[in-house]
Order: sequence, then C-alpha cells, then structure tokens
Amino acid sequence: MNRSQAYAALLQWQAEAGADEAIGEVAFDRRAEMAAPKNAPSSPALAPAAAPADVDAIAAGAGSIEELAAILETFDGCALKKTASRLCLGDGVTTARLMLVGEGPGREEDLQGKPFVGRAGQLLDRMLNAIGHDRTSVYITNCVFWRPPGNRTPTPEETAVCRPFLDRQIEIVAPDVIIMLGAVAAQTLTGRKEGITKLRGRWFDIDVGGRQIPALAALHPAYLLRQPGQKKFAWRDMLAAQRKLEEKAGSA
Ligand code: URA
Repeated sequence: MNRSQAYAALLQWQAEAGADEAIGEVAFDRRAEMAAPKNAPSSPALAPAAAPADVDAIAAGAGSIEELAAILETFDGCALKKTASRLCLGDGVTTARLMLVGEGPGREEDLQGKPFVGRAGQLLDRMLNAIGHDRTSVYITNCVFWRPPGNRTPTPEETAVCRPFLDRQIEIVAPDVIIMLGAVAAQTLTGRKEGITKLRGRWFDIDVGGRQIPALAALHPAYLLRQPGQKKFAWRDMLAAQRKLEEKAGSA
C-alpha cells in the first residue's frame, strides 16, 4: 500500500467510525496532548465550556420557543456548540399534546437545524403517522441542541447543562404526554440508570414547572433501523402513548 492509499484507508476507517467531519479550522495532534504535562492547556475543542452559574434562570427568561432559541444562540455554556454547524432546537407545534424527546442532533439535523430529519427521523415520522400524528400535531426536541462530534453519545455534563432548556421547552409546550426516545432521553428525564431495554414500555412521571407529565420510555428509531425485529415493541409503545393521550383528553 502506498502512502496515499494508506491515507485513504485511514479516512475511510474514520468515516465508518462516525468521524465524518472536520471539527476545527486547524488540525490538532491529540497524541501530543496526551503526552503533555497534566496542567498544560488543553485543545480548545476539548476544553469544557464554562457553564454559567445560573442556567436555570437563563432558560426561565424565555417566554416562548422562539425566545428560547434566541437565548441559546448567545449561550456559550455547552462545548458542543463549538463543533456544531448550527443550533437544532425543536420542530412541530408549540401547543402539541404529544412531545417526543430524542438524544441529540445527527449530521442531517446539524445541517438543517431541525431534529429528526435524517433516516431515523423518517422512520419516526412513519411511526407517528401510524397513530394519526405528524409534525403538525407533535413537538419534537432532543436532550442536547448541538450535534456531538461524530455523532457520539452526549456526555452527562452536556445533557445536564442543556437540561434547563429542555425543561423550559416542556413548560412552554405543556404536553399531556412525553415519549422519551432511547436511553439518553429516558435516563436524562427520569434520572434512572438502567439501559433502554429495561426502561422501555414503562411510564414515569416527570415533574416540570409544578406539573407532573406522564413520560413513556421507548426505543430510539435509529436503534430500530439497526434492529428491525424490535419494531413490535415500538408499535406497542406508540399505541400506549396514543391511549394515554385519549385517556387524558377524556378526563379533561
Ligand atoms: N437522533 C436523535 O436522537 N435526534 C435527532 O434529532 C436525530 C437523530
């Protein structure tokens, strides 16, 4: 293998591992960083962003989803913002009775600034259609609002710093039912540590803004794309969510 074939193979290997985009203007030698003394300054992309002391108060200042988006455009407390192309906050209607919470934007979402628009999003749309919903009747968001580099799972620190903005969206939309898509959403919103196969199909009450909202843990559509045999569980969960919405409408 000559040198250019070796570079091409290396690039292909990185792309297959999910590292499909440059995240900085200049190349950075992470091996040199690992060898550097402990208290040497770290790479700008890795340095944790200073979280503002009172992120709750910042989020509470938003009276609408548009105001929340404007606040997030100037918020520098989440390091993911440095590597993402744009903010990806929510999609759908802000008066929806059904809200869905995913993990974080992927490549397509980062390009379009809208959650769940890639392959997983298209499957999610079909799942919603199956119970009579679409983006004109639901609100969709994520646990983090900037794409984690290479689509890695957001860290607990990243979900924690974004949490007040997720909670504020829940307060503003005030849905009757939430579906938590995948382990990150279920763990972030419930504080539980179990994996999604243990949590899925279970209801939890989420306390936000003095209200308790029933939230169902469900399988993430990206997982269903890899494990189509699990779709039967997703179908059960969508039906359970729809039944809960009907119960709530009946008791209102
Ligand atoms: N996966 C997610 O969790 N959220 C998106 O917006 C897209 C894919």
